[in-house]
Amino acid sequence: MAGGNGVKTFGLAARDTSGVFSPFEFTRRPTGEEDVRFKVLYCGICHTDLHAARDDLGWTTYPVVPGHEIVGHVTEVGSKVTKFKVGDKVGVGCFVGSCRSCEQCSNNLEPYCPKMIMTYLSIDEDGLPTRGGYSNEMVVNEHFAIVWPNKLPLAGGAPLLCAGCTVYSPMMYYGLSKPGTHLGIVGLGGLGHVGVKFAKAMGLKVTVISTSQNKKEEAINRLGADSFLVSTDSEQMQAAIGTLDGILDTVSAVHPIMPLFGLLKPHAKLIVVGAPNKPLEVHIPPLIMGRKLLGTSAVGGIKETQEVIDFAAKHNITADIELIPVDYVNKAMERLEKGDVRYRFVLDIGNTLVAAPTT
Ligand SMILES: NC(=O)c1ccc[n+]([C@@H]2O[C@H](COP(=O)([O-])OP(=O)(O)OC[C@H]3O[C@@H](n4cnc5c(N)ncnc54)[C@H](OP(=O)(O)O)[C@@H]3O)[C@@H](O)[C@H]2O)c1
Ligand SMILES: [Zn+2]
Ligand SMILES: [Zn+2]
Repeated sequence: MAGGNGVKTFGLAARDTSGVFSPFEFTRRPTGEEDVRFKVLYCGICHTDLHAARDDLGWTTYPVVPGHEIVGHVTEVGSKVTKFKVGDKVGVGCFVGSCRSCEQCSNNLEPYCPKMIMTYLSIDEDGLPTRGGYSNEMVVNEHFAIVWPNKLPLAGGAPLLCAGCTVYSPMMYYGLSKPGTHLGIVGLGGLGHVGVKFAKAMGLKVTVISTSQNKKEEAINRLGADSFLVSTDSEQMQAAIGTLDGILDTVSAVHPIMPLFGLLKPHAKLIVVGAPNKPLEVHIPPLIMGRKLLGTSAVGGIKETQEVIDFAAKHNITADIELIPVDYVNKAMERLEKGDVRYRFVLDIGNTLVAAPTT
């Protein structure tokens, strides 16, 4: 362990809008009194990581080390840490800091704090750029670390820290979690497939709305969805008009949303959690006629993220993952862009990330 100048860390960074990853060395702060330091074992690849690597959303500063579905083993704790001890399993999701005193923080809604610090692409309290989980170790204030249930597998559970929480949080907030609610899930990718699993565990009726006819069998037989609509098939879409109590839209690219509003019953809600990089087109009069709501949602706060992880452990929910070595990351990003993953890539950091030889 280095002294006050920081601890040498290594990982993978994208350095320009090509989004190509290469080895990268940087420093993290020494373990502070409220900090937990951990060896990263697994990190999921969220589509937001791809948006960030290529600066799709216009907020990237390079080099960027993404990754916000991070799990590992605690290697060091500060003197005031109470939630963790060395050797414990730990998780970190989309953010690593917030003011801890504003209205949002007081209500356990840290992602909405104006001073929220993202796990990557923010400046941390120590003045250093935050760098995510595509790296050998992390250091984080214990408040922002999730206690990992022994029962929940690390690699398959990691994606729940972002993907899982991003679908769970709006189901709770928008009243879409009551048994019997008919929920549509648009886009069967990383978020969408865990959305189906959480919704089924809550007793909901789930219709998947997808562009990929070839996902139908898995959606129904493996993930447990009740029905499947191909969004480009106007006959199927027509037949389902006015049937849904709510929709979670997880699509990562620009797509038509008015046909989705058509699927909703009056007074129902379309909640968009995907982050297309260009505006979606909304025509208001058909919404007015059914008093339909367009909502959005970020990931949940720390209390809710812990709830998601504990719920997953209790109901045996994990993501369906493709575990990959770190040198596959560029290929994985190409495949993610094409929707060619069932359903989340997870980097096997612990076994495959080694420091690049120093020259
Ligand atoms: N709100 C938040 O806090 C939050 C948190 C995490 C992620 N996100 C965002 O959520 C989005 C999804 O993330 P993810 O990791 O789940 O991505 P993903 O695994 O790539 O899944 C996205 C799915 O969207 C569908 N899709 C892709 N392009 C489409 C198009 N042009 N038209 C219609 N459907 C299309 C595909 O499903 P089908 O093959 O079934 O059509 C694809 O599998 C990303 O934009 C990400 O940045 C937001
Ligand atoms: Zn994410
Ligand atoms: Zn705050």
